[in-house]
Amino acid sequence: MSTSSQFPTLRVVSHPLVQHKLSILRDQATPTKIFKELVEEIAMLMAYEATVDMPTQDVPVETPLESTVGRQLRGKKLTLVPILRAGLGMVDGIYRLVPNARIGHIGLYRNHDTLEPVDYYFKIPGDTADRDFFVLDPMLATGGSAASAVSSLKRAGVTRIRFLCLVAAPEGVRRLAAEHPDVMVFCASLDRELNAQGYILPGLGDAGDRLFGTR
Ligand code: PRP
Ligand code: URA
Repeated sequence: MSTSSQFPTLRVVSHPLVQHKLSILRDQATPTKIFKELVEEIAMLMAYEATVDMPTQDVPVETPLESTVGRQLRGKKLTLVPILRAGLGMVDGIYRLVPNARIGHIGLYRNHDTLEPVDYYFKIPGDTADRDFFVLDPMLATGGSAASAVSSLKRAGVTRIRFLCLVAAPEGVRRLAAEHPDVMVFCASLDRELNAQGYILPGLGDAGDRLFGTR
C-alpha cells in the first residue's frame, strides 16, 4: 500500500494483481461479464488491505493432534455499505472474504447537471457505534456522493468508517478529507483529474452502466 503526504487520508493499494486487473477494467473493450468479475476480485483484494489492522483475540482450537491457541476477529461484525447502484458490484467479493459481514444500503445518484448527490434510500444494521463500516463505491469523483453517504452514516450514530473505491480523483479525495478527515480512503488508483462532466480521467467510464450493461 502506498501513501502520499499530499493526501494523508488516502491509501493506494498498489499490489501487482490489483493493478493488473484494474488495467483490464479500464479497457473500453472489456465486456460486462468480465467487468463485473473484475470489480468483485479487486474489491476482495482491497478489502484484504483495508482489514489489515482489524482487532483479533485468542481462541482455543483443537487440532487433530493437540490443543492450541489461534486468533479470531474481535468485536461486532463488519458492515458493508454499498452506495447504489455501482457499489453493489463490490459486495460479493468482500463478502467471500468476510462471510459474517452485515450489509447495509445507501441509495444515491448524482444529478447530471449539478453533480450533487440525490438521496433515495438508507438502511443499515443497528448497534452502529460498536461496528466498523466499509462504504463501497467504485468511483470517488467530486466526492459529493461519498461525503453525503458518510454524513448519513454519522447521523445514524456510526463512528468507524472506511471508504473503499477502485478509482479516485484528487478532487474527491480532497473533498472527503475536508468534510470527514477521520475517514480513510482505500483505492486502487488515484487518477489525474475530473472532466467538465465530472467523469474521472483516465478513469473507466460510468461504473454503474458498465457493471449492469445499461446505456
Ligand atoms: C456514480 C458512482 C458514485 C458517484 C461518484 O454513481 O458510482 O456513486 O457517481 O460521483 P461523485 O463522487 O461526483 O459523487 P451515479 O450517480 O452515476 O449512480 P449509479 O451508481 O446509480 O449509476
Ligand atoms: N461516476 C462514474 O461512474 N464514473 C466517473 O468517472 C465519475 C462518476
